[in-house]
Amino acid sequence: MTPQERTALRKSLRHKRRQLSAREQDEAAARLYNNIAGQRFFHSAKRIAFYLPNEGEIDPGFLLAAALARGQHCYLPLIHPHKKDQLLFVRYRNGDALRSNRWGIHEPLLRNSSRLSARVLDLVFVPLVGFDAACNRLGMGKGFYDRTFRFRAHTGKRRPMLIGVAHECQRVDALESNDWDIRMDKIVSDRQTYQPVPT
Ligand SMILES: Nc1ncnc2c1ncn2[C@@H]1O[C@H](COP(=O)(O)OP(=O)(O)O)[C@@H](O)[C@H]1O
Ligand SMILES: [Mg+2]
Repeated sequence: MTPQERTALRKSLRHKRRQLSAREQDEAAARLYNNIAGQRFFHSAKRIAFYLPNEGEIDPGFLLAAALARGQHCYLPLIHPHKKDQLLFVRYRNGDALRSNRWGIHEPLLRNSSRLSARVLDLVFVPLVGFDAACNRLGMGKGFYDRTFRFRAHTGKRRPMLIGVAHECQRVDALESNDWDIRMDKIVSDRQTYQPVPT
């Protein structure tokens, strides 16, 4: 796939996502919750990273609310202030203030006390633009999650566990992955759960 083709694919998938109505979004968020809420990987995680949905991304908000209510520690991503094109994670508690970043995306305020390295998370819900049934992920085109979780390729462990979440309409037949792309351990859509075939 040429870079131009990837750009075109991102554009059409982002468009599809934005076309979903408020009602379709609510229903998809509820189905996503149902697909994940009872799973052991969710219950057993002590530190979980979520994200705040933007431009039609599926909303993991019901899962965030459930995790907060159960006393699990919840985190949101923030653009790393020093490491180029990487993320760091800050603790989020009910009612914490958010502000808009330079792209108009809501993010938590950076407080030194609550910063957490990506390495000590147990579970990360990862937003995406496109995916395939083999759990390859297409992001927004900046490689933020690829860079931030690159260390996992060297540890050989599935920690943190990376769960891509998406609308089913974001699935494509096959995505070509690049050397630097981090594959998801699972992808859960509003309709189905996908897992890579073990090698
Ligand atoms: N771990 C990494 N180290 C260096 N550059 C990276 C890394 N991961 C991604 N990149 C660069 O970031 C850019 C965007 O990555 P890409 O995978 O296309 O975006 P996305 O994952 O958001 O879809 C690519 O040009 C790639 O070279
Ligand atoms: Mg990538």
